[in-house]
Formats: sequence, structure tokens, C-alpha cells
Amino acid sequence: MSGGRTASGALIAVVTAVLTVVLLLGVTAAAPIRTSGRLGDGVAIAGVALTPPMGWNTWNSYGCDISARVVQQAADALVSSGMRDAGYRYVIVDDCWFEPARGPGGVLRADPARFPQGMRAVADYVHARGLKFGIYESPNDRTCAQLGGAYPGRTGSAGHEALDARTFADWGVDYLKYDWCAPESDLDRQLSAFTRMRDALRDTGRPIVYSINANSDVLAVPPGAIYDWSGIATMWRTTNDVTPAWAIGLGVATSQGIREILDTTAPLTDRAGPGHWPDPDMLEVGVAGVPGTLTPGLTAAEQRTQFGMWALLAAPLIAGNALPYLDSATRALLTNPEVIAVDQDSLAAPATAVPDTGGKVLRRTMSDGSAVVALTNRDRAATRIDTSAAAAGLPAAPRYEVRDLWTGAASVTDGPLGATVAAHDTVLLRIRPDTSA
Ligand code: GLA
Repeated sequence: MSGGRTASGALIAVVTAVLTVVLLLGVTAAAPIRTSGRLGDGVAIAGVALTPPMGWNTWNSYGCDISARVVQQAADALVSSGMRDAGYRYVIVDDCWFEPARGPGGVLRADPARFPQGMRAVADYVHARGLKFGIYESPNDRTCAQLGGAYPGRTGSAGHEALDARTFADWGVDYLKYDWCAPESDLDRQLSAFTRMRDALRDTGRPIVYSINANSDVLAVPPGAIYDWSGIATMWRTTNDVTPAWAIGLGVATSQGIREILDTTAPLTDRAGPGHWPDPDMLEVGVAGVPGTLTPGLTAAEQRTQFGMWALLAAPLIAGNALPYLDSATRALLTNPEVIAVDQDSLAAPATAVPDTGGKVLRRTMSDGSAVVALTNRDRAATRIDTSAAAAGLPAAPRYEVRDLWTGAASVTDGPLGATVAAHDTVLLRIRPDTSA
């Protein structure tokens, strides 16, 4: 996974740079402040993402080091690994795909060295395999890689929204990741910029998933966690960038570990529903880290926690591992059908904390009347976590069928629920009242 190592090195550089800025400017590490108002009008783009989008994105393993070949290999691997058939449909090309200057008439062009046939050809390749195609842009004048100096040019969509939306629709784009990439985050400016592209996408008439990130490069508490963006976007990032780490510990204005993102996003799931999903960022499952650094990679337990809790939160499941190197453990985790079914459950009920468990137990009601209970151990040593069917909000019943969604083990209880949970691991139980006894 050499690509992963390269990207992780870049991530460390990003964390370090952001930390420096944070220290210099004195940005606080305060927890995000929730506001109740819903931004925007109704569902952003009608008819898309009735359940959380699933797919794969180039950024976490390849960073700017992308090409048509990388994307084609990923599309092929999604098919041959069974991931496509497990639900992963969107193949998303992140930052650094474009030529650094716009072409005649201001039209965006693919980088001719790395995408010599252009983006429509890449989209065609992806579509021919039963997959959908995603692309990346920014509402400001530079993408994040351009702002940070990792990529030349100024090809953000500012002032070109309608043209860019038409270009994307013409290429066959099914998903746009639209990434803020500016230090200031005035709400009015963000609202008008993100709404302009939403309207431009609507005007194309093509059903395009609209995935926004209001947080990138912002020197303040991430707006993605403060506001309910469900009327503006199909999905919106709640935090700064995910890294292959349990926790970074430098506050909300920096890159985040999966435990930190989980804790920020879990209280926001009442904002989720068909066509609008809070997005705790991409999966670090199977993504290489750099041992001994802030981003060492996730342990097997931490990967279960990320995948299981993202599913419990009804989060978009966007894999980021280097697919040509997919190993059997990663594949088994990413394609676990019972966990994916939790993510995709049509009820999209919010996940809520079970009272008196210190945030260790979350639960969610499923459309079939069952509930999923997640026991998460944030400690560095194994610990016992206990609750009950009643505390988890299940209707009274003489007994309950319990299924462990990792092992498939079935058991029966007359109420008590619990397990010894390994360090940083999550036990995921699906519980059905059994009234036949
Ligand atoms: C921001 C985003 C990332 C990725 C990079 C690309 O940091 O949050 O997900 O898209 O930009 O430069």
C-alpha cells in the first residue's frame, strides 16, 4: 500500500501545518455549538441518495497522485471484490484531476498527462461497470490542494458555477464533492456559495449527489457541525479531515481521529433522512498509516468501530483504501451485509445515546421493529459494558433474540445486554423482541 503511505505522510504534514496556524491564531478547541435551524429549502437534489451514498474516493490512499489508471483499477476492483454488489456504487475522483488553467470559454479540462482521454472517458469506463462517477471542485477560487500549494493553478468554481455544473452533467458526473477550502467561514458567504452550485446542479436536470464540506481550511469551529445543512446538500461533512488515527487530540480545527469524529457526529443524526445525510468523512478501513506518528493507522478493533459506528449513524460509506491491495479482512469488513443493512435501513431513525452509560452505548430503531445497540470501548484496556433491552428502548417482551453483527452469533436474553469489549472496539448487536414464548 505504497500509495497509502504517501497519502499518510501528506496527512501528517497537513496536521502539523494546521496545528501551527491554530496555535498562532489561538483558535479554541471548544466543542461545536449545535443550532436548530435548518438551512436551505427542502431536499437539495430530488431523487438522489434515498439511503446514505456508498462508494470509493481517491483521496485517502492516493492524495494528488491520481490518474485514469488509478480510477479504472479501482472500478475493476470494486466489481471483482464484490464491493459494488455490496452497495459501493460511486467512484469519486477527488482533488487534483484538472488542468491548472481553464480552457477556451472558461471550461474546466482534465489534466492531460494523467487523464489523457478526458473525464468523460473515465466516467464512461466507470458507468460501463455498473458504477456511478463522482468528481471534486471548490466554491472558492482554489481547491484545497491549490490553496495549500500542493497543486498549481486557480480553478475553483467561483463565478463559473453554472458552466461547471453543465460540464459535469455533460461528462456524466453523478456525484459532486464541493469543498470550501478557504480560511474564513462567514455563514452568509458559505450559504450563497453552496446554494449557487446546488441551484446550478438542479438546473442541469441530472440527478447528482451534492456532497459539501464547509469545514476545510476554516480557522474556526467547523460550520458543518454547527448548522443543519440538509436543505442545501445531499450530504455535508461534520468535521475536519479524517485521518487513520483513533484520536489526534489537537482540537476541532485540525484533522481528526475516528473517535473524535464519532463524538462530534453522533449527536447530529436527527438531521439524517432520505436525500440528506450528515457525513463524518470517509472510511479509513484498510488505509495504511505511519506507525509512531499521529496517524499510525487503525487497529482491527478501531476499524470495526469506524465501520460499525458509521453504519449506526447512517453515514455515507465512502471507502478510501487502495483497492488493488484489498486484503481479505478489509474486504470482509467492508462488505459485511448485516452492518451495511443497518447503514442503509429505510427508516433512517436517529441514533441516540442510552442514558446512564456514559456515552458507551448508542442505539437505533430499525424499520422492522428491531433495534441495533452499539457498545463502544473508548479505553485502552478491555472493559465490560452493560445495558438492557428496556434501557435500549425495546418494547417489553418475555425474551429477545440477539445477534452479534460481527460474528453472526445468536443468543437469547430476557433483558440484560452486555459484553466485554476490547480496547477501542465496538460490539454491534441487533435485537428483536420475541413475543412467541
Ligand atoms: C480537503 C477535504 C479532503 C480532500 C482534500 C483535497 O482537505 O476535506 O477530503 O478532499 O481537501 O485537497
